[in-house]
Amino acid sequence: MSTLAVYPGSFDPLTNGHVDIIERGARLFDRIIVAILVNAEKSPLFTMAERVEIARKVFTDHPNVEVDTFEGLLVDYVAKRQANVIVRGLRAVSDFEYEFQMALMNRRLNSKIETVFMMPAEQYSYISSRLIKEVFALGGRVHGLVPELVETRLREKRAVRM
Ligand code: PNS
Repeated sequence: MSTLAVYPGSFDPLTNGHVDIIERGARLFDRIIVAILVNAEKSPLFTMAERVEIARKVFTDHPNVEVDTFEGLLVDYVAKRQANVIVRGLRAVSDFEYEFQMALMNRRLNSKIETVFMMPAEQYSYISSRLIKEVFALGGRVHGLVPELVETRLREKRAVRM
C-alpha cells in the first residue's frame, strides 16, 4: 500500500520551516500533497495564486511533492484525495495544545486518517509565517528563514507599496 500524506496550512508565506517538513515528508511517504487552505485569513499577504506558484517552483525538483488548494473540512479533502496521513510540524511545546486538539478532532471526524507530527531542524524551530511578515514589514532581515523566491516576492511587494 502506498502512503499518501497531506501537509495542510496557510503558507502565507512558505517558510524554510515548512520546506524542511515537506522534504522530510517526501522522504518518509510515497507522495506528499502541500494543501493550501483557501480563505484562511481575511487579508493574506500573498494571494492564493502566488502561494501556489511559489510552492510549485520551490518543489519543482521533487516529483513526489504536489501542491494543491482545499476548502472546507481538512478530513474531507484528505478522504477525497484518498490519502491516509495528515502531516503537521511541531516546533515547540506551545504548538502542542492547538495541534493536539486538531488531531483529535480530525480523528473524531474521520478515524481512518492518522495525524503524524514532525519536528523541523532546530534552526527553524522559532520561525512562523506571522513573524516573517512582521519582521519584514518592519524592515528586518528574513534571509535564510524563507526560500529565496519568497524573499524576492516580499521585496517586490514592498517596492509596489512604496
Ligand atoms: O498553517 P495553519 O494556519 O496552522 O493551518 C491550519 C489548518 C489549515 C491546518 C486548519 O485551519 C484546517 O485544517 N482548516 C480546515 C478546516 C477544518 O478542517 N477545521 C477543523 C480542524 S480540527
